[in-house]
Amino acid sequence: MAENLYVAEGTKAEKFEALIPQIRGVLDGESDMIARMANVAAMLTQTFGHFWTGFYRVDGETLVLGPFQGPLACIRIRYGRGVCGTAWAENRTVIVPDVELFPGHIACSSLSRSEIVVPVRKDSKTIAVLDIDSTATETFDDVDACYLEKICMILSES
Ligand code: SME
Repeated sequence: MAENLYVAEGTKAEKFEALIPQIRGVLDGESDMIARMANVAAMLTQTFGHFWTGFYRVDGETLVLGPFQGPLACIRIRYGRGVCGTAWAENRTVIVPDVELFPGHIACSSLSRSEIVVPVRKDSKTIAVLDIDSTATETFDDVDACYLEKICMILSES
């Protein structure tokens, strides 16, 4: 396994293009989902430096905090609640340009200003969500959605 992550200079898309093959390399041969999520959270943080990057895993009717990088976070989120629970219930990526304008947003930190949540699916079932928070508004767009969806697909391939 590679020990050093190469972070590309350039646009967001260029950074993702350099990151994805490295994610494939790091995940190759490892089946433990917690370990896989942990390294994906670390690699996304090293590349983009967002305020909080991590996973919530589906456990019955609840999302439970999984591997993450960043400050202390809420542990359990119910189905349909907050941005994470909404992405799970609606089975889609949710981009929130300004968390103050998202009714029901769960503020784990008052520093978080925008957010993206992407479902992680296995056999068409959502098994987790990837959540990324930024301290700036309007950080995430369709480029993030497209590449993060790809990363979540790679994550659940084994
Ligand atoms: N803001 C999320 C909660 C998780 S934290 O941001 C890490 C939500 O509304 O679901």
